[in-house]
Amino acid sequence: MTGQGAELLRSAPDGMPPWAIVTPRRRAHVGRVAALVTQWTVAMRLPAEESRRWLRAVWLHDALRDAPEAEMRRWAPGVEGPVELRHGPAAAARAELEGERDEDVLSAIRWHSVGWNGWAETGRTLYCADFLEPGRDFDRDERAALATRFPDDPAGVLRDVVRRRFTYADTRRWSHPPESIAFRDEVLR
Ligand SMILES: [Fe+2]
Ligand SMILES: [Fe+2]
Repeated sequence: MTGQGAELLRSAPDGMPPWAIVTPRRRAHVGRVAALVTQWTVAMRLPAEESRRWLRAVWLHDALRDAPEAEMRRWAPGVEGPVELRHGPAAAARAELEGERDEDVLSAIRWHSVGWNGWAETGRTLYCADFLEPGRDFDRDERAALATRFPDDPAGVLRDVVRRRFTYADTRRWSHPPESIAFRDEVLR
C-alpha cells in the first residue's frame, strides 16, 4: 500500500455497530474496506452526506457475518442458501431495526454479496470495495490497480469487478442467484 493509503488505514475510525458479531479478522477486513472507501471519497471530493452513506454501508455490511446460525436465521428468516447469501439480508434487517433509514445504505448491505440492479452508487461502490480491499491474497497487483482507478472511472471498474467476481465464483463452481445474473447482464450490457 502507498504511504497515503497506509495513513488512511491507520486513521479510519472504527464504525462497527455495537451489535456486530465479528471475528477480529473480519473486523480487520471491514476496516480495510472502510479505509479504501475513505480514500475514494476524498479523491472524488464527494459531498459529506454521500461519503457518510458509503461509509455506513461499509461498516454495517458484514456486521453479522460471524453470527451463530440461529442469530442469522432470526434476522433473515425467509432467506435460504449458504451464509454468503444470508449475512447481507440479516445485517440489513438488523440495521433497519437499529434506526438506519436510508434505502441506498440498506440495499447496499442487503445485496452486497449478490449484486442488485436497483442499486445507486452506495451499493455499487461497496460491491467494488469489498472485492478490491488489499487484504485478499489473490490478484493483488491487478486489484490494486483497479482500486487506484476507481475514483476516475467507477463504472469501468465496476464492469471489471463484476467480470472478476463471476470468474472467481465459476472456478469454484458456485451457483449464481438470479439477482446476480440480472446485475451482471445490466452492468456488462
Ligand atoms: Fe459479506
Ligand atoms: Fe465484506
